[in-house]
Amino acid sequence: MPNYGDHQLGIYLRGLAGERESLPLTCAELEARAAGAMSTELLAYVAGGAGNEHTQRANVAAFDQLGLVPRMLVPGAERDLSIELLGMSLPSSLMLAPIGVIGLCAPDGHGDLATARAAAETGVPMIASTLSVDPMEQVAAAMGETPGFFQLYTPNDRELAESFVARAEAAGFAGIVVTLDTWVPGWRPRDLTLGSFPQLRGHCLANYFTDELFRARLEKPPEEDPRTAALTWALLFGDPTLSWDDLPWLRSLTKLPILLKGICHPEDARRALDGGVDGLYCSNHGGRQANGGIPALQHLPEIVAAAADAPVIFDSGIRTGEHIVKALALGARAVAIGRPYAYGLALGGDEGIAHVLRCLLAEADLLMAVDGYPAIADLTPDALRRVGIDA
Ligand code: FNR
Repeated sequence: MPNYGDHQLGIYLRGLAGERESLPLTCAELEARAAGAMSTELLAYVAGGAGNEHTQRANVAAFDQLGLVPRMLVPGAERDLSIELLGMSLPSSLMLAPIGVIGLCAPDGHGDLATARAAAETGVPMIASTLSVDPMEQVAAAMGETPGFFQLYTPNDRELAESFVARAEAAGFAGIVVTLDTWVPGWRPRDLTLGSFPQLRGHCLANYFTDELFRARLEKPPEEDPRTAALTWALLFGDPTLSWDDLPWLRSLTKLPILLKGICHPEDARRALDGGVDGLYCSNHGGRQANGGIPALQHLPEIVAAAADAPVIFDSGIRTGEHIVKALALGARAVAIGRPYAYGLALGGDEGIAHVLRCLLAEADLLMAVDGYPAIADLTPDALRRVGIDA
């Protein structure tokens, strides 16, 4: 079995032949280069966050507060990054977080399909957003053998929510991720400055515009009157009444595994599991929704403890392979990335995403090799120390 770290050798060997990587190797550089490939509005939407973006920055900085302790003389010729998640065997613990404008990030404007193709190529599962340029059925079909998840934004029209879940199940998705932290968009100064919210301009609404129930709510089809269709979307996008009392309803919609995204409090974690969900997704939406919170990573140990045996997916602030390893050591079953793959897509299409994934996995794999933690099971909180010297 090849190791993900072998990617490094390939880069050096191609270097011997005078070839250099055409895409950046660090997230900071990816973002800087992608800025030149995206419109001002798109870049603001992807790179920006809520408020003064303190939480967004803190998400990334939190990883520097923890250090991995190297262990020596641990045989590690073969590393194993594979995991079991909800009955599925996955080749690594990495996932692609749902990104509602990923469609627009691709050079050809079909980034949901490009992401699905990258998932097919790398085996890294995609969590496909409700907000997509291409309908979920086409996105699912492009994922090949790699299992995918459908992310649900629960509209205030319950029948439409039911239709989305039924369509996702029929399309072959392996699970439903219900995002709870976005029934109303957070205060995002970058977008507000530009007066730009892509969906209000009719972008990324294919799942709604192809839905018979949604279309039945319109006087004219979206193809004839896209403006009214987008406004209708805005009126039904979020459900401010959704509460824990609705969990049995959500649960009743599907036999597929359900994960709740945005869980940061252990009490919420317990209520979710008591209500019959199959897994938790600890995330603060990459700091895009509520500013003034603590880094998502700080929530993770509590959520893992509350989850008992249920799997916890983690995202928010993952920028390097080192970050993946640290989140796994804190007990995440899988780790998802958001913005980094949007930048890879903007620069290089599906190959750009695959590049980002390969580099992250190679770095994680090599770190596990060098530091003596060759399997994910070796990564426990004991592998970590808080940074700082005690006298
Ligand atoms: C998101 N995120 C998101 N989450 C979700 O559940 N549904 C969605 O449609 C979106 N849309 C979206 C758009 C953009 C531009 C970004 C950057 C993020 C949140 C996403 O799934 C994930 O939680 C964060 O991106 C993780 O943080 P990082 O990796 O971007 O720091």
